[in-house]
Amino acid sequence: MNILILGGGGREHALAWAVAQNPKCDRLIVAPGNAGIAELAECAALDILDGDAVVAFCAEEAVDFVIVGPEAPLAAGVVDALDSAGIRAFGPSAAAARLEASKAFTKEVCDACGAPTAAWARFDTEAAALDDLRARGAPIVVKADGLAAGKGVTVAMKPEEAEAAVREMFAGAHGAAGAEVVIEEFMAGEEASFFVLCDGETVLPIGTAQDHKRVGEGDTGPNTGGMGAYSPAPVLTEAIARQALDEIVKPTVAELARRGTPYRGVLYAGLMIDGGRARLVEYNVRFGDPECQVLMMRLGAQALDLMLACAEGRLAEARVNWAEDHALTVVMAANGYPGPVAKGSQIRGLGELPEDSRRMVFHAGTSARDGQIVAAGGRVLNVTARGATLAEARDAAYAMVDAIDWPGGFCRRDIGWRALGR
Ligand code: AMP
Ligand code: GLY
Repeated sequence: MNILILGGGGREHALAWAVAQNPKCDRLIVAPGNAGIAELAECAALDILDGDAVVAFCAEEAVDFVIVGPEAPLAAGVVDALDSAGIRAFGPSAAAARLEASKAFTKEVCDACGAPTAAWARFDTEAAALDDLRARGAPIVVKADGLAAGKGVTVAMKPEEAEAAVREMFAGAHGAAGAEVVIEEFMAGEEASFFVLCDGETVLPIGTAQDHKRVGEGDTGPNTGGMGAYSPAPVLTEAIARQALDEIVKPTVAELARRGTPYRGVLYAGLMIDGGRARLVEYNVRFGDPECQVLMMRLGAQALDLMLACAEGRLAEARVNWAEDHALTVVMAANGYPGPVAKGSQIRGLGELPEDSRRMVFHAGTSARDGQIVAAGGRVLNVTARGATLAEARDAAYAMVDAIDWPGGFCRRDIGWRALGR
């Protein structure tokens, strides 16, 4: 079959890598793709937020199946447009994608189905939000309601930080996303991510992961999109995963079905684990980036069969072939990230690295210039490896990092430290 993947980061490179290994895949197109993706798929220029344009492209190129990587096309209704045109797609409708696009929507759904999460309140005026903050004190969490590219959350340890965040949001720091503000109870604990596929009804777990959000070693410094990840997450024990499934994920999926907006696609539950129990931090309606890279490294070609079963409502008969292995990815970012970075620095040594079912350098932000690979973003490479143990996966990933010659970039040397120290 002809398959189109929407997106152009490390997540989409990992999806393309897994899909291309499946014999069902005859032709693979990724829009817009990147220099790494171009080595295993065709890259196409396409406005991936425009449902009509995506439908027209699928008709021209005889695309049978579309996999949507990032959240923006989902929130923009690209899957709705594909559904209306009778083209199979992996990802939720815009209505179901509100689980990521609106924090208040998720909180209402949790309240309606009894899923454990932080106590919360929503505000549409600065004065009311500030009054609430003064009544509650710190630590406290302030969130812009809408999609804010991962920048709409302030975990405030002091009341002044929370008040400043509220003022900034109502002053328009996150545009329309901050027109409404959610104030939440601070939850202590250890975070982990739980990934399931849903076909509207059936829920199928496909793995757990943890990422490192801070730029600095020891999880210090400013927040980023993620500096590394590993799977599985040892903190998410089988018992906690079952509790999260029974008390959080399944009730949410049932509630969305009851509302007439069934959830189809991958559901990424961000969990806070404390005292042997999980509470929901947030949902994402897509694979995590870089969590997808470690999940795909572990699932391999079967990922396509699972995504197809999901899109076709056949998850009840699908099975995951689990390997007792571990995967770890190290993000290499351009110097200066998460602040402003210079584009165009040359990356050498990639061509000599092994690329097999255990080791892969996924490209997150690269382009090709005169036959050379150059940096084209903040997060640039995801150096990913699999091993029988997490330590083995880590050693294999850092051996590749050390063989990459890129003075314009850096990485953390301690990815996995928390899990390795358990
Ligand atoms: P979100 O975009 O909702 O995932 O928030 C980003 C990050 O903020 C999360 O990954 C957590 O680290 C942190 N966070 C969000 N909500 C809470 C909360 N209620 N308590 C503690 N930390 C939180
Ligand atoms: N790595 C976190 C995310 O994809 O949201």
